[in-house]
Amino acid sequence: MISNRITKGINGSANIPGDKSISHRSIIIPSISNGICEINNLLRSEDVFHTLNAFKAMGVKIEDNQHNIIIHGKGLNSLEKPHDEIYLGNSGTSARLLTGLLSGQKFRSVLTGDKSLSKRPMKRIADPLKKMNAKILTNNGTLPIIIESSNLISSNIDLKIPSAQIKSGLLLASLNTEGTTTLKEYKITRDHTETMLESFGANIEIEKLENTKIIKIIGKKELISKNISVPNDLSSSAFFIVSALINKNSHLILKNINNNPTRNGIILALKKMGANISLLNQRSNNNENICDIDVTSSELNGCELGPEFADLMIDEYPILAIAASFANSPSIFKGLNELKVKESDRLKLILLNLQNCGVNCKVKDDDLYIYPTKNFNFINNTIQTDFDHRIAMAFAIMGTKIGPLNIKDSESINTSFPTFIEEFNKLGGQIF
Ligand code: S3P
Repeated sequence: MISNRITKGINGSANIPGDKSISHRSIIIPSISNGICEINNLLRSEDVFHTLNAFKAMGVKIEDNQHNIIIHGKGLNSLEKPHDEIYLGNSGTSARLLTGLLSGQKFRSVLTGDKSLSKRPMKRIADPLKKMNAKILTNNGTLPIIIESSNLISSNIDLKIPSAQIKSGLLLASLNTEGTTTLKEYKITRDHTETMLESFGANIEIEKLENTKIIKIIGKKELISKNISVPNDLSSSAFFIVSALINKNSHLILKNINNNPTRNGIILALKKMGANISLLNQRSNNNENICDIDVTSSELNGCELGPEFADLMIDEYPILAIAASFANSPSIFKGLNELKVKESDRLKLILLNLQNCGVNCKVKDDDLYIYPTKNFNFINNTIQTDFDHRIAMAFAIMGTKIGPLNIKDSESINTSFPTFIEEFNKLGGQIF
């Protein structure tokens, strides 16, 4: 994919697709609930279809009517043994959440993934599940994972790694477990699983202390299905927001965007940098905050962000690094160790690709330093993405200022945002 410079700004109303995290949960939770669930605005991307196909393979009746998806849930113990291994492509969320859910089922299952997912750490979910008596065999801590049938026992678990995927895998495991499972979380991670479980009637109690969140869940209570309307994805919006900020004469409106306070770090960070962003029509739907976002071109300043920001915006550092490359002063983003175990080693690729584009930057102790320049002296205009969708889209936005950039393996965009190029070009983009 080639991303080229634009001259007239980015303008109009962008169609951002449904939220990826909420879409996965909108398939998983209704599939083990009782009743019929109608899901509107589900993200139609490869990652989400891997989750959907997994549940079809486990006997759940799922109808796709193009405008919505209907899931016929039959309860906590209704899943059937799949005929084959469950292939999850590039999707870390599917892998971690399904490992948890399948640990307590009455059948053996095997989870596999693509080259990138097969390198990602799975011990982080397998180990706490083993505390609950799960029988999981990993391939040296990675996929393929073999999950043997087991009766899980309730446990008290400290969530040492800040990860919504681990927390969610454990919550799904505890749904089918006798007694009370208690999870203690010391850092904020996205809360879509607990929010949706609460609204489906799970026996769940959440207590927030100063620096700790305690989630207690009593298993064996059947869930009741509800219809779901998936809000649009803030993480996908971030590429459009930054392109409008850094390109003169831009004005964008993005409607119906999820503005969950456990995930809105990118908005806080960009505002701190002086971005003209307004959140309009703030409202709530199924306990998720939603708003419309109005953004215009801005003179950005650099900023320093502590590790607490990483908890609120772990997926947005690639695009934030692009914004910082066009600011008036340097930026430091601290505590980015978790970026190394995403769809790629994002810290390494942000550094390598920015340096190839001529940006002075460095990583020290997992902190990223960016010193913006007015003269981009290219070393190489080919962007290495290691099949990571967010690296590909972030550097596509970089290309709007300093292109042409040749972005390798850009089909990865289909994992989260298949309409990215079409939508971006409608607003004035030059991506081919
Ligand atoms: C996700 C959680 C995050 C995030 C990922 C989606 C989720 O991962 O990076 O894109 O839907 O729970 P971690 O929980 O591993 O931080």
